[in-house]
Amino acid sequence: MTGTRIHTVQQLLEVLDQVVEASGRGDRSRTSAADYWSNLLTTPGHPLTTQLPDEPLVDWHERGLLGELAGARVLDVGCGGGRNSRWFAEQSAVVDGVDLAGELLDTVRTALPDTVTLTTADILRDPLPYDQYDVVYDSGCFHHIAPHRRITYLERVLPLVRAGGRFGIVAFAGERMETPADADIVGSGDTYGGMSFSLDDLRTIFDALSPVELRPAAYAGCMTGERTLRLDVLYCAVAAVGLVGFAGPLAELAGVPAVALTVAGVGVLGWAGYLAYLTAKAPRRQALRVVLAVNVVATLGIAVAAVTSQQVVLTALLAAVAVEVGAFAVSQALALKAISRQPAN
Ligand SMILES: C[S@@+](CC[C@H](N)C(=O)[O-])C[C@H]1O[C@@H](n2cnc3c(N)ncnc32)[C@H](O)[C@@H]1O
Repeated sequence: MTGTRIHTVQQLLEVLDQVVEASGRGDRSRTSAADYWSNLLTTPGHPLTTQLPDEPLVDWHERGLLGELAGARVLDVGCGGGRNSRWFAEQSAVVDGVDLAGELLDTVRTALPDTVTLTTADILRDPLPYDQYDVVYDSGCFHHIAPHRRITYLERVLPLVRAGGRFGIVAFAGERMETPADADIVGSGDTYGGMSFSLDDLRTIFDALSPVELRPAAYAGCMTGERTLRLDVLYCAVAAVGLVGFAGPLAELAGVPAVALTVAGVGVLGWAGYLAYLTAKAPRRQALRVVLAVNVVATLGIAVAAVTSQQVVLTALLAAVAVEVGAFAVSQALALKAISRQPAN
């Protein structure tokens, strides 16, 4: 028995599907990978369990590159836990999130805004909810699709972008991470946990579209930003406890009522809580801007208090705090700079 002899492109693609499906790592872009994705994207600590949207997505929106999002119809391809779908909905878009991991979608559905509709479907093979979107966005799905199936992706996904609409993609960067050549992948069937693409690869693969911007994502700045914000939360919490705990001796040193320092400590604790909220929920750039502004004002205020104090011990104490808060401001400014816009190319 030789089976059907290939005589259509469809049959060729299906034979290659079998090669990938048979590989140890399996095909992560079809329904058989649903459990893999449901488990991975609910693993505590996995970076994609974050509620934050992609850095480039927020940046593109802030710079008006995505067009008007209020009322826009958006498709989130391979939406996973829906972090980017949620963000689109928060910009008043009407969102279809499509993903093959049905169990994962069932877990997150109720926590997403009503304007997000989640559909369990394989973007390469199943019927899709709608056929014309203002924005089609793919974060991390395309790079898991086996090389031969990119053809299917382009044929099925690109026509979903309405004329004048936007297609956005975030994929592993070939400039930062090397993955085997497509010939090796198609031969072995091993998709290596995702393939990387250079900016030139993306320009070539998506040459049916007019590029608006191709650039590296600024995740280094995001990571630095997250660390400085978290450390700031910890610092403020410790400072608040110190202020309340040592309110008596500190009040004597400063010549102010102890109750004033207790109130100040509670205020600092409240700020630490708000900072923790900003760190977890707000877009990184926005959180950094707010916290940087507060830290600059606080540094100046504490420095003035240090200089005007008549007590040497108090001056030294306040100067140390001013330096620490100032150091946070500097690290937040550096993180913001690292996240700052890259030139279009
Ligand atoms: C790396 S995760 C990214 C999830 C999400 N976009 C995010 O950034 O948080 C890749 C997602 O693509 C989905 N996926 C892979 N191939 C797919 C396909 N053919 N159709 C629909 N979803 C697919 C997976 O189920 C998984 O949720």
